[in-house]
Amino acid sequence: MQNKRILITGASSGIGRALALKLAASGNEIVALARNPQKLKALVAENPAIETIALDLADPQALRDFADNGWNGRLDVLINNAGVQDQHRFDDPACSAEVMIEEATTNLVAPIVLTRALLPQLLEGKTGTVVNIVSALAFAPKDNAACYSATKAGLKMFSAALRAQFPPDRLRVLDIFPPLVATAMTKGRGKGKITPEAAADAIIAALDGSGERALIGSARVIAVLSAMVPGLATKLMSR
Ligand SMILES: NC(=O)c1ccc[n+]([C@@H]2O[C@H](COP(=O)([O-])OP(=O)(O)OC[C@H]3O[C@@H](n4cnc5c(N)ncnc54)[C@H](OP(=O)(O)O)[C@@H]3O)[C@@H](O)[C@H]2O)c1
Repeated sequence: MQNKRILITGASSGIGRALALKLAASGNEIVALARNPQKLKALVAENPAIETIALDLADPQALRDFADNGWNGRLDVLINNAGVQDQHRFDDPACSAEVMIEEATTNLVAPIVLTRALLPQLLEGKTGTVVNIVSALAFAPKDNAACYSATKAGLKMFSAALRAQFPPDRLRVLDIFPPLVATAMTKGRGKGKITPEAAADAIIAALDGSGERALIGSARVIAVLSAMVPGLATKLMSR
């Protein structure tokens, strides 16, 4: 992937940050979108060619304004990567309406609204690409991440709906299913994590290919198990 203009949401840390730095280093124009301006500044300090947009994707009004005002400029690839995960069982008071609304808006509503808002630029005179960073939890849910699992299953279905509307030579829609990655999201939990850089390499390899989805590492096992023995896949994800 070279000479493309790529907007990456959640590019201020973790997988998105690694992707932004690697894709910028290999000759692409990167627009990094995230909520925290300080973290975006730190990213630009590493590569001053990276443009930034500070936007809170969990804020419905900010999202509406972005969609209504449009965004000028060429765009070849949109990577819907920003995400949050609440880790409470559904009957825990900490799993509040506010937390669930933030999670559902960031993980699912924002990718849908952004894709629609940026579609004209993506389709302008070429094949556009939308990459949705999904999760193995779209195949099998985790007991303490009900809302998150639902948003990721919804994102996977959104990709399928886009593919039903646009032939792949107009809009390529690529789903990425990472395994556990060592980022702020997974701090203090899980074993056998891969680095954000390794995840970014696998995503770039998928972008360079022509497939509709990339199952990275253990995500492949969960996808197969969920089709064959769904109960076991759910048990494994909830350990
Ligand atoms: N880590 C894993 O094991 C794993 C596995 C499967 C899938 N994923 C998915 O991979 C994606 C990236 O996750 P990660 O692990 O790299 O997470 P991370 O290190 O926590 O980074 C999340 C990114 O999303 C941004 N973000 C969060 N809320 C936002 C909001 N309201 N508005 C704008 N930006 C927001 C953050 O920016 P600010 O900090 O500036 O708000 C940050 O740049 C997520 O979609 C996640 O669900 C992760």
